[in-house]
Amino acid sequence: MDLLTKITQEDYVLTMKNIIKEDHPTLRMISEEVEIPLMSKMVSLGDKMLNFLKNSQNPEIAEKLELRGGVGLAAPQLDVSKRVVALLVPDSEDAYSIEEVMYNPKIISHSVQEVCLKEGEGCLSVDREVLGAVIRYARVRVAYFNRESEKKELKLKGYDAIVVQHEIDHLNGILFFDRINAKDPWAIPENVNIME
Ligand code: NI
Repeated sequence: MDLLTKITQEDYVLTMKNIIKEDHPTLRMISEEVEIPLMSKMVSLGDKMLNFLKNSQNPEIAEKLELRGGVGLAAPQLDVSKRVVALLVPDSEDAYSIEEVMYNPKIISHSVQEVCLKEGEGCLSVDREVLGAVIRYARVRVAYFNRESEKKELKLKGYDAIVVQHEIDHLNGILFFDRINAKDPWAIPENVNIME
């Protein structure tokens, strides 16, 4: 059975075992666009990815399944080289600022303003702390197809914008630490906003 068939079976639950690590060649590939309208397997894949993020943010389930908490996941991290990302960013007790699976996402415009997270970034595929500023656009407009195969556009800012850029990077074989200045990891140009 191929990997995609295996992980999209109805009772299959994604865990850390499914997530490939930084030295895996798939993480350096340009992922393939998915066919629209979506095949049911692709819809299931997105559902599983979003469910993984939900589980990872639920303290009891995360402990039981030994999941690291995550707010975003890209299909290549499961060794599936397809342009699919899941985003789940909590903004309060039981609400999310974004809860979405994006197929063939594309940044169609962005702010001039740049931003970086004060604490740097992390990744479920990177099992070590890599410190340094990851400079990204402060605001992006993303075009994508949703799980109903409808064409959508979303304007994202703040943390949501950072997460979507991190995930789209995965589709292009880029890891967050590629964007850290090797000589001076915390060198931040004056015009870049620093987000707490
Ligand atoms: Ni990542």
